[in-house]
Amino acid sequence: MEDTVEIGCGTDGVQVTDIETEKRLAAEAAAELVEAGMTVGLGTGSTVAYLLGALARRKLDITCVATSPATFDTARSLGLDVRGFTGIDHLDVTIDGADQVGPAGWLVKGGGGAHTREKIAAAAAERYVVIVSSNKLVDALAVPVPLELLAFGLDATLRALGDARLTDAPVSPDGGVLAGYFGPLGDPGELAMRLSAIPGVVEHGLFSPAMVSNILVGQGSRVHRRRPGD
Ligand code: 5RP
Repeated sequence: MEDTVEIGCGTDGVQVTDIETEKRLAAEAAAELVEAGMTVGLGTGSTVAYLLGALARRKLDITCVATSPATFDTARSLGLDVRGFTGIDHLDVTIDGADQVGPAGWLVKGGGGAHTREKIAAAAAERYVVIVSSNKLVDALAVPVPLELLAFGLDATLRALGDARLTDAPVSPDGGVLAGYFGPLGDPGELAMRLSAIPGVVEHGLFSPAMVSNILVGQGSRVHRRRPGD
């Protein structure tokens, strides 16, 4: 089931189809789902940056957990009450972006190297809301699938993975080495299981549709609210 909400138009009523506008509209729609008293997981990336501003403007009494130092710093600078993810065992809602949204609702995430923390925050949330611009919707998921690997035994882990290469990025805030899987993708569920089963893989960037409550897609001047697989 899909809802469409007319969020707004550009100046003079001209439809705005700019990707940044789509990100902002999806993020602002997600911010409206947050209520006072909630604990909120904050994802990472340029779409989430719009969310942080929209949440801060609402001035709600909420407690936030950030999935990256960048999100933490920005959220705090905007006046949001953001804390470490310690002593909090459950989140009411986590809101995050994605790199790809497949037709069955599988996500590829981790373009910002934060997918391990993002998956933890998604799994801890009663409701996991994904915010994307329309260009993130794909007919079929494509590689690379981001990986976070343990440094110990790194070459053996890469060998077990097969077609995987290190990314030119600093280690994660948790000391993980970032890489990408470039092999055949096929069925995302099967690949997710295979990647998870390899010792040394801390986490991969495939997010199951079962984790996702809603996907808010900015499209032109509208936001489409979808459930995974719609
Ligand atoms: C970071 C992520 C981001 O959510 C993903 O890369 C989308 O980023 P953006 O909103 O900048 O397009 O998974 O690890």
